[in-house]
Amino acid sequence: MTVLAFETSCDETGVAILRQRDDESGPDLLASEVASQIAAHEKYGGIVPEIASRNHLIYAPRLLERATTAAKLPLSEVDAFAATSGPGLASSLMIGASVAKGLAIGFGKPYLAINHLEGHLLSPFFGGADPNNEIRPNISLIVSGGHTMLICVRGLSDYQLIGRTVDDAAGEAFDKVAKMLGLGYPGGPEIEKHARHGDPKRFDLPRSMLDSENFSFSGLKTAVRYLLLKIIGRFCETPNDEQRLTQTAYKLDGRVLSDLCASFQQAIIDVLVRKTLAAAQQHRVGLVTVSGGVSCNQDLRRQLGEACARKGFEFKNAKPWLCTDNAAMIAFAGLLRLQVGFQSEVTEEIDPNLALV
Ligand code: KG4
Ligand code: ZN
Repeated sequence: MTVLAFETSCDETGVAILRQRDDESGPDLLASEVASQIAAHEKYGGIVPEIASRNHLIYAPRLLERATTAAKLPLSEVDAFAATSGPGLASSLMIGASVAKGLAIGFGKPYLAINHLEGHLLSPFFGGADPNNEIRPNISLIVSGGHTMLICVRGLSDYQLIGRTVDDAAGEAFDKVAKMLGLGYPGGPEIEKHARHGDPKRFDLPRSMLDSENFSFSGLKTAVRYLLLKIIGRFCETPNDEQRLTQTAYKLDGRVLSDLCASFQQAIIDVLVRKTLAAAQQHRVGLVTVSGGVSCNQDLRRQLGEACARKGFEFKNAKPWLCTDNAAMIAFAGLLRLQVGFQSEVTEEIDPNLALV
């Protein structure tokens, strides 16, 4: 069984081909191509939807050709064509879904509309040796640029929402704080790099909504903003706060920058670890998983893993290359769904606000 998938929900174009053989092993990833558009959006300080969709239109056919060449597979041998159908940017989602639908119609094969969040949620199970790809019950923490949520997973497509962010996603907070600090986009890897040599205890930053199942990161972002104003206020004489922060004319001392990044990162990690462990204890599930772009963060992976070990939970994280947006996770979700007989109508529309539960 072979699935070819497209991921075009935001600014990454991905094409992947995944094959499940009829033996005792897990699926083989025959190809996974990703084209990042970071450089095209960086100068605007965020994603510009029209630029993203124009680039998807350029990259999708090229990556399709590269993937089929790498897999040495004619398109006629693909058993189903999958695409992310939401959530995401409408004009971006449309490109991958349209190409996948066209191929499905042209080759007379099923079309699979996949929820991007399900792709992330299942990614920690990718690469296993189980040919049935069983999804064991787990507490799943999805942390990305657009989403922060805790889900109780009982099995494939059996999901219960435990909590989600009421304002910014964790990745969004990393990106916004990095921008404030004059660091590049995406902000997560930049902050992680500076945090590596910093003191996470130097600055006292808030851990919000600790007694709730939901998350909130906008207060933390604002706290960093005021702290930064206080720090640079000593060196900078611009007439108002807005100018001070947007001007980035100030130069933060290297030690202060590292300590600020480390303190901010630790504030996010503390909240994520605490709520995830509380959910695992409450829902009596023996396995904890983490996925999404923010789960590339080495300190988060380590601290969540250690906290799980202390409390007797098994811990699984997606491989770092599977954490940020890619089509392999969409192909995997598509394959699992195909194995249980799921198919979508080619008339099914993309949905920018598609819910997971
Ligand atoms: O999953 P993803 O590629 O896209 C969405 O579905 O949103 O996640 C991208 C997010 C960005 O906000 C980025 O700053 C964050 O993941 N990220 C990180 C790290 N690498 C990427 N955050 C913290 N530490 C990292 N190492
Ligand atoms: Zn994502």
